[in-house]
Amino acid sequence: MNPSATAHGAARAVWRRVAASPAAPLAWRARRLGRSGRRSFGGWLARAGSVIAGQGRIDGTERSATDPASARRLPPSYGVTPRPAPVGDDWPEPPEIADAGRIVRSLYETGAQPAAMDVALIEALNEEYRSKPLVPAPPTYDQTSRETRARRRLVGIHRQIDLAGKRVLELGCNAGFEVWYLSHHFDADAWGVDVVERAAWATLADERTHYVCTDIGVDSPFDADSFDRVISFTVLEHVVHPYAVLRDLFRIMRPGGLAWMSANLYRGPLASHLYRELLFPFPHLLFDDEVIAAWRQAHGKPAEGAAWVNRLTWEQYEAYFRRIGFRIRALRFRETPLDEAFYARFEGILGRYPKADLTKDFFDVVLEKPATVSGR
Ligand SMILES: C[S@@+](CC[C@H](N)C(=O)[O-])C[C@H]1O[C@@H](n2cnc3c(N)ncnc32)[C@H](O)[C@@H]1O
Repeated sequence: MNPSATAHGAARAVWRRVAASPAAPLAWRARRLGRSGRRSFGGWLARAGSVIAGQGRIDGTERSATDPASARRLPPSYGVTPRPAPVGDDWPEPPEIADAGRIVRSLYETGAQPAAMDVALIEALNEEYRSKPLVPAPPTYDQTSRETRARRRLVGIHRQIDLAGKRVLELGCNAGFEVWYLSHHFDADAWGVDVVERAAWATLADERTHYVCTDIGVDSPFDADSFDRVISFTVLEHVVHPYAVLRDLFRIMRPGGLAWMSANLYRGPLASHLYRELLFPFPHLLFDDEVIAAWRQAHGKPAEGAAWVNRLTWEQYEAYFRRIGFRIRALRFRETPLDEAFYARFEGILGRYPKADLTKDFFDVVLEKPATVSGR
């Protein structure tokens, strides 16, 4: 590779990070000083950026990963050329108006009272959806169901990324039947990791079936470049710092390795995880946790709100994947069509989100760690 192109690329990367840091105004001023001034200023700037922004910022943290590319590239304000003519300080006096802000009419004021988003409304919506629940047959967790689900999942994933004989890690393995089948049916060296240890692990573990209780985003026991495959089912949405976990997955995957992952998206209709008891779409977007907790308590259930799910959109996950260095090899969304009448009833709340996000329940993605990783 051309060394000057490499140096130029590295300089551009440093510039992008400094420009995204709190040192940006200073940096832009320096850039405008011109080529000669900039040259001598460059080294100092990089060091100052590092000190002011913190080393983590310069290294590409979770925060800079979600900054849109434009925020890293663009100056914070604009200056038209030629410069605008001065308008002077002699301002004209507008006419005196009593109560200038009084509303004459409003396109969006229909006069209708918004619904009270309370326990009574949850009750009413549940009755309405009793004959057409959002999830007619929710997953079950007896051992036979876990085994059947594990086999179905693995067959589908094996077809896409080949699990046979590989060293495979499952992120968020829960009871661990997928991991057990990986070693006993696919002849894999199979590893499961989860932040909660499950009773089944002690019985299922053997020399090719391993379970580890840790959060790899905080404390990863795995060697770099050591897994051929990573799989994960509906875990990322529960991860508090997904960027750190994804970054570690990238580190521990072999170059050329593949990951198959699915995650539930917060803006989708199912993300409350309460579809067994709240039968209508979007309870977590429509009702405060306190209201959901009060409804549940009134029905003899734990007085808790919707499940904890991070609020990343697909676009933010995608920015993470790309920023970390993954190549996205396949992508599918599992969606529930938007019930337009329901949307219209609650547009005051649901209208805050793009409609395209409201239909997306899950993404299934195949990621590749490129065989040759460009320096980043
Ligand atoms: C909805 S469950 C899915 C479990 C399993 N993958 C399945 O599909 O049945 C989410 C799992 O993710 C685990 N989890 C949450 N945060 C995690 C993290 N940072 N690392 C690994 N597992 C995590 C939880 O303990 C839980 O077992």
